Amino acid sequence: METKEVIQNYWDYRSDTYNSFVVDQSDEERNTWMTILSEAMDNRDSLKVLDVGTGPGFLALICAEMGHNVTAVDLSENMVKKAKENALKRSLEIDVMQGDAENLELPDSHFDVVMNKYLLWTLPEPGKALMEWKRILKQGGMIIAIDGDWHNDGILSKTLRKISNAIKVIRETKYPRIYNKHYDPLKKELPLFSLKPDEVKRYFKEAGFEDVNIERIENPYISGKKRTWRDKLNLSEPVYMIKARKQ
Ligand SMILES: C[S@@+](CC[C@H](N)C(=O)[O-])C[C@H]1O[C@@H](n2cnc3c(N)ncnc32)[C@H](O)[C@@H]1O
Repeated sequence: METKEVIQNYWDYRSDTYNSFVVDQSDEERNTWMTILSEAMDNRDSLKVLDVGTGPGFLALICAEMGHNVTAVDLSENMVKKAKENALKRSLEIDVMQGDAENLELPDSHFDVVMNKYLLWTLPEPGKALMEWKRILKQGGMIIAIDGDWHNDGILSKTLRKISNAIKVIRETKYPRIYNKHYDPLKKELPLFSLKPDEVKRYFKEAGFEDVNIERIENPYISGKKRTWRDKLNLSEPVYMIKARKQ
């Protein structure tokens, strides 16, 4: 099976459980993300935004709620369905379509912002994706990419990950095992699987982005909920926001 097919199959399988990151989201968490995104977009209104690798519509829904004109793309058909359902439930208008981040069927120089969250690590050709995102951005448009080093090889990170996965197994959550079955054979084909800021910067520079800004952000996805000790284990992975502008 081709790499992209394996990735698509995994996310089709995960779409039900992953949807909870949207449906169980608290107002506080949504507001935290709105503040983060608004600042990243220089507090500008009514932008044409693309959320690529949208999953169940996480960033797309938040941007639509902020009044932006939003398009969302995902490789997984099931994720596309979830994103559409979520938009409908929240009475938000989002143009959601199935597509590949590295080969988008979207027009040149069209978007003010191309954003993505937790996508870079699973791209076989991040350089190709960046060139695509640059192509569809207007001049002066920006990329906002959010991702973490989820597969850090450090002893502490590895141990915490093992404990966290063991708990999921005890709780009869199947997905760590199915995740490994899909992603273990692919690791070597995904250059940012273990995402290092310097390496990400190099990819952006090679794609022709001059001013690349990388900063660590407070892992906000659990901010609305009381942090359990399991959440705290997951917090060992730093999350970065990478911003770059098309000259
Ligand atoms: C970790 S999930 C993140 C989803 C969402 N951005 C979020 O933060 O909740 C990764 C998503 O990227 C999608 N994806 C993976 N490879 C892709 C590709 N080449 N093009 C578009 N989407 C892709 C998957 O289907 C999945 O929905």
